Amino acid sequence: MTDHAPKKLFIKTYGCQMNVYDSERMAEALGGRGYVETQVAEEADMILLNTCHIREKAAEKVYSELGRLKPLKAEKPDLKIGVAGCVAQAEGEEIMRRQPLVDLVVGPQSYHRLPAMDAALATGGKALDTDFPAEDKFSGLAARPRAQRGPTAFLTVQEGCDKFCAFCVVPYTRGAEVSRPAERVVDEARALVEAGVREITLLGQNVNAYHGHEGGLAGLVRTLAAIDGLERIRYTTSHPNDMDDALIAAHGDCPELMPYLHLPVQSGSDRILKAMNRKHTAEAYLRLIERLRDARPDLALSGDFIVGFPGETEADFADTMGLVEAVGYAQAYSFKYSTRPGTPAAEKPQLPGDVMSDRLARLQALLKAQQTAAQEAMVGREVGVLFEKPGRLPGQMVGRSDHLCAVHVEAPEALKGEIARVRITASAPNSLAGTLA
Ligand code: 5AD
Ligand code: SF4
Repeated sequence: MTDHAPKKLFIKTYGCQMNVYDSERMAEALGGRGYVETQVAEEADMILLNTCHIREKAAEKVYSELGRLKPLKAEKPDLKIGVAGCVAQAEGEEIMRRQPLVDLVVGPQSYHRLPAMDAALATGGKALDTDFPAEDKFSGLAARPRAQRGPTAFLTVQEGCDKFCAFCVVPYTRGAEVSRPAERVVDEARALVEAGVREITLLGQNVNAYHGHEGGLAGLVRTLAAIDGLERIRYTTSHPNDMDDALIAAHGDCPELMPYLHLPVQSGSDRILKAMNRKHTAEAYLRLIERLRDARPDLALSGDFIVGFPGETEADFADTMGLVEAVGYAQAYSFKYSTRPGTPAAEKPQLPGDVMSDRLARLQALLKAQQTAAQEAMVGREVGVLFEKPGRLPGQMVGRSDHLCAVHVEAPEALKGEIARVRITASAPNSLAGTLA
């Protein structure tokens, strides 16, 4: 290969939507060093694993994936292997010690330094950067290219978390809360819309604590809603304590803001919420939901739950089930508590695994039943669907409803990127079917 042939970059992304966004930005940054993306690991000159540290198994998966790369590296000694994301931040140098084939370790706040790190690799060294630099990494990252894109995109507006929930590594791996200035976000959103994007999901670990706009997240949403061609706006993930009046009002009167909200509560027990350092009660959460539903009666709710937090009794768990019954979720994620080294809860005695498994099974059965009920309630109704791509069957397109549910519809491919009215005819386990209205 000559120096001028494009080098190939393969990125494998784990974890949350912010990692999906970060992977795009890393590919763009390395584009300046002559890399083009490939979907085939075997042909790559650089493989980056963009990792997640939120639960134990996530990091273990990374180490086994690194192990699987050994034969590739043996075959192709010039292959560069990098670890990015929250495992990189948390483990740092330890990754290179545990797996010497790793050439590069880069934490989430240092992605703008990737081109320089790649240059260091080219001279035969290794590169490690897990700083929390003072400069704004986003201004150091290349502008997003104008190439045509799909109809939906993520856009990070806020990063980091100051909440310090007792179970969570995010404040340590992603650092303190930082908001991007609204003008930069608006410029990026405009570029996305020019490239064909119709729906933007604003991302932040604590997105509703966004303060890069004088009107907070609600102000940003309203400013973005004024962009011609941007039809839908969503945001994730929120903390109940940052849900202010202006944002609740926006759910009521900003038609571009979709009627779907991911608002994690983690537990329905006040005792456990306190031990988790959530700084709100179950009652406060329920009152908040009531206010949101007053503003937007068809709001679909999603949440995150942890079962088996240290000290959780059967009565505490019953409170969580009660809260779920009271809310009625359209969709939710639930997890067994996983000890994260360095977090306050890690010091406390853990619950037996079978107790956690049993509670998780009961909670998931309830959440699944609620999801099924919410989907079945849509049958016979008309919804707006933004078509994203062809479906599995010929002549079929798939899109998302206002409520973020996948909808399969017999429709021409020309409808890609368009919002059409669809009558829902059937509900399947994780999607709906419908016909053009
Ligand atoms: N164990 C289990 N689940 C966790 N989450 C965060 N930390 C842990 C942990 N230590 C879950 C929370 C959070 C979601 C992103 O992951 O529910 O909202
Ligand atoms: Fe983690 Fe979310 Fe709590 Fe922040 S608010 S510490 S990201 S669970």
